[in-house]
Amino acid sequence: MSDEKPEAKPGQPSDRRSDQSNDLPPAPVGSFASDNAAGVSPEVLEALVAANHGPALAYGDDDWTRRAEAAWQERFDAPVVALPCWGGTGANVVGIASVLRGWEGVIATDTAHVVVDECGALSRFAGTQVSTVPHHDGRLDPDDLEPFLHWQGSEHHVQPRVVSITQATEMGTLYTVDQIGEICDRAHSAGLLVHLDGARIANALVATGSDLPTMIRDTGVDVMTVGLTKDGAMYGETVVHLRPELAEHARFVRKQAGQLPSKARFVAAQVLALLTDDLWLRNARHANEMAQLLAGAVGGIDGVTTQGEPEVNAVFAQLPAAAIVPLQEWSFFWEWDLTQSLVRWMTSFATTPDDVERFAAGVDAILARHR
Ligand SMILES: Cc1ncc(COP(=O)(O)O)c(C=O)c1O
Repeated sequence: MSDEKPEAKPGQPSDRRSDQSNDLPPAPVGSFASDNAAGVSPEVLEALVAANHGPALAYGDDDWTRRAEAAWQERFDAPVVALPCWGGTGANVVGIASVLRGWEGVIATDTAHVVVDECGALSRFAGTQVSTVPHHDGRLDPDDLEPFLHWQGSEHHVQPRVVSITQATEMGTLYTVDQIGEICDRAHSAGLLVHLDGARIANALVATGSDLPTMIRDTGVDVMTVGLTKDGAMYGETVVHLRPELAEHARFVRKQAGQLPSKARFVAAQVLALLTDDLWLRNARHANEMAQLLAGAVGGIDGVTTQGEPEVNAVFAQLPAAAIVPLQEWSFFWEWDLTQSLVRWMTSFATTPDDVERFAAGVDAILARHR
């Protein structure tokens, strides 16, 4: 399920109104619909204003972009190539397309954002086939690659080339460092590369107590999208190539894909603000803690079944089906799987304990009417 959908869809108030009266607790100020629903870290806005003095050469030939790349090289402790892009979908296209040839394909889970929520961008703009495998709590298992390896060398089949995994996963779960390492080892031993969609990489790092060299560089990830938008940035994500020799075509692909921001300094300035004093990790830690708080606050409510302790900043909950629309009307969030009455509540760097308290009070009040 994607994070932001501007138009009404099944489950939004305009579609399925309930007739609940207004005597409900005050709704939270923050939104539990998505970490993308949050605003921007004040430090990021300040950095954008500060970057707005005087001219700078366009298309990344500027001091902010050079400093952002150096900052990523320092964080990864490796000579990575860092390419700012406009957004996450585009960055995934650029990262993957830059290492594929025309007859090569991608393997990902059936819940991967690149499969479900990017409108087929990889098929259209990378001209590739994305083959899916059933997820295991959001994760891909190295054994899932096996059937595709039998096709290697046969001209009748798309040649498997990139395994794309997401950390943290779309199901709010995590790969351990060892699990990422196993996927990379299995992929590399068959001549495949590993792409990691890190839209929520900061949440994963703080949840596991790991760092970029351990989780990404040493496991063998070849190319990734580093996401900051859900973590306090306004826009823009970065493609990071860990093997510079694989980045040979990446700049051309980025330009063709429309993902080279002319005023790239304003993406880089956001990166620099979020890396300063580890704001990106502090924001992510707060988001994760708010998810823990929320899970605790709603866990005791009769009718709510949460799916275990949140690993990052998502709480998945099963509710009585009749309560979902009234609750959405009161404080909107996305359904995850209506066949199981499963919904998703996301927290962010901007979520407050008061938001959590109010939301739990509303869940309690509305479920009392629909149990
Ligand atoms: C896991 C994941 N990858 C990629 C993206 C894409 O980001 P964007 O909306 O900037 O294209 C998202 C956004 O929701 C996401 O959740």
